[in-house]
Amino acid sequence: MLTLGVNIDHVATIRQARRTVEPDPVTAAALAELAGADGITVHLREDRRHMQDRDVRILRETVRTHLNLEMAATEEMVAIALEIQPDYVTLVPERREEVTTEGGLDIAGQQARLDKVVDQLQSAGIPVSLFIDPDPAQIKASAATGAQFVELHTGKYVAVTGEAQAQELALLHRGCEQAIALGLRVNAGHGLTYWNTYPIAQLPGMEELNIGHSIISRAVLVGLERAVREMKQVIRGVPLS
Ligand code: PXP
Repeated sequence: MLTLGVNIDHVATIRQARRTVEPDPVTAAALAELAGADGITVHLREDRRHMQDRDVRILRETVRTHLNLEMAATEEMVAIALEIQPDYVTLVPERREEVTTEGGLDIAGQQARLDKVVDQLQSAGIPVSLFIDPDPAQIKASAATGAQFVELHTGKYVAVTGEAQAQELALLHRGCEQAIALGLRVNAGHGLTYWNTYPIAQLPGMEELNIGHSIISRAVLVGLERAVREMKQVIRGVPLS
């Protein structure tokens, strides 16, 4: 069955905007699970711009579904993953100046280093997923690392419409088939919204979609009315129950 991993990084982004304690991504993870999330995804970035080490440690204790730790393939992050033992790790490229993860990993260009990181994590019992573009050479190189999963980057698919989008979808379709034929399991994500996700959910053998921005954006809007009403209540001297 296709599962949904909810990426809660943006909850931490709001908290870090004020360096305060709310909203707490740990609470957000619990609510997402109550609503049916099959997994919780967090990206611990080198610059700690949203998720903090404390979040990942507590989430490891509290997440009842599975915890997917997105991280760069650095020594620091490998040490953290080995200590925290997430249910799986997704290796992503990371550049300080980027707003979000902009492209897939270049596996073929750093094969020896990634082979080593995949081996370090998987020999410690942590399955590894590689976030890559749906490019035949990258899929082949991913299989060669021995990683159990790839996560196909849907960023190009979501950025276009019409015939161009149909072509990107076809690339993703072929990518799924190639990955599965090579023994890889397949996830996908990036930029998926309430309007463009269904065709991705239909791809052959797709196991998990990791979605963050669109879900957290909708949560802000669907929750705003109630939040304002509750503040008006507090102003009138009626405490929150
Ligand atoms: N998958 C990976 C590997 C990502 O880096 C991200 C963004 O952190 C996502 C999925 C989720 O993307 P979005 O927030 O656009 O749904």
